[in-house]
Amino acid sequence: MLILGIESSCDETAASVCEFTEQGEKRILSSAVASQIEIHRLYGGVVPEIAGRAHSEAICPIVTEALESAGKTIDDIDAIGVTSCPGLIGALLVGVSFAKSLAFSTGKPLVPVNHIKGHIAANYFVYPELKPPFLAIVVSGGHTSIIDVRSYTDFVTIGRTRDDAAGEAFDKVGRVMGLYYPCGAEMDKLASIGDKSAYKFPSAAIGDDTLDFSFSGMKTAVLNTLNTLAQKNESYKKEDIAASFTDAFTSSVCKKLDQALKRTGYKTLVLAGGVSANSHLRSAVTELCAKRKVTFCCPPLSLCGDNGAMIASQAYYEFLDGNLADTDLNASAVAE
Ligand code: KG4
Ligand code: ZN
Repeated sequence: MLILGIESSCDETAASVCEFTEQGEKRILSSAVASQIEIHRLYGGVVPEIAGRAHSEAICPIVTEALESAGKTIDDIDAIGVTSCPGLIGALLVGVSFAKSLAFSTGKPLVPVNHIKGHIAANYFVYPELKPPFLAIVVSGGHTSIIDVRSYTDFVTIGRTRDDAAGEAFDKVGRVMGLYYPCGAEMDKLASIGDKSAYKFPSAAIGDDTLDFSFSGMKTAVLNTLNTLAQKNESYKKEDIAASFTDAFTSSVCKKLDQALKRTGYKTLVLAGGVSANSHLRSAVTELCAKRKVTFCCPPLSLCGDNGAMIASQAYYEFLDGNLADTDLNASAVAE
């Protein structure tokens, strides 16, 4: 079957046509993304109203591009998947309203998709042998959650951030050092050439009896260090801050993942979301999994950030489970 996946939860308008065969093969036929990064860069972060307006402009051309580059027309599509939660409400509503209209006018089934589940489902394209149950962590600009993936559609969040998301912390620290939004990729490069022992930042892995994180303390410690250095008129190396912050970040994540693996007993771990592109995180989690004899999966860089294929992938399993929506589908800023 062919699924059109539509994503508009934050600052990327994306659409993709994917094919799912009865033999279990999954293929991405097209993946079109209109990024709003240049627009939001001026403000140092995503401005929700501007995001909604930019999605509205981009959605028709992006869906058309996805269909055309897959060599398909809307008549070939068997179901329409759309991100309905969580995310910026004005942004989500554009994709949801568009997908509802398309489903209404064509009579195609409409499949609502949870964005976080979509990030995890991106992995099914590259790991055909990956099957629930398994442990997953989604680290992105808006979310940081450790998830017990019980089946393709049944997920239980067993740990989450109590304040900032991981990507948000990367972006804020980078912004204070004068990097351009979104700062994650640049922070990653700087960290590779910096001294990770230059500064000691607090862990985001709070307590031993919880799988929750708190990134605000770690972020504030970095910002205080930068303020103190500025007040004393002392210079610093951006790469040392980036390396020390990244080290505190990766060891916090690894500590909680180690706890979660022990608690659940799972032997497969999936890393997903925009921050899963971080090279230091990928190698630290690879090492942890090797030590624990756990199979490690994480998507290629092209599928780490927001895209339509991950939504089509999750929509496929929701469709098989009969989780369809009527035309009264609404978007929700929080996970449902
Ligand atoms: O998943 P995503 O594209 O959007 C949300 O759903 O939030 O994640 C975007 C986030 C941004 O905060 C960006 O700075 C971060 O992912 N990011 C990274 C890297 N590449 C992107 N963070 C750390 N290291 C990277 N290499
Ligand atoms: Zn995302």
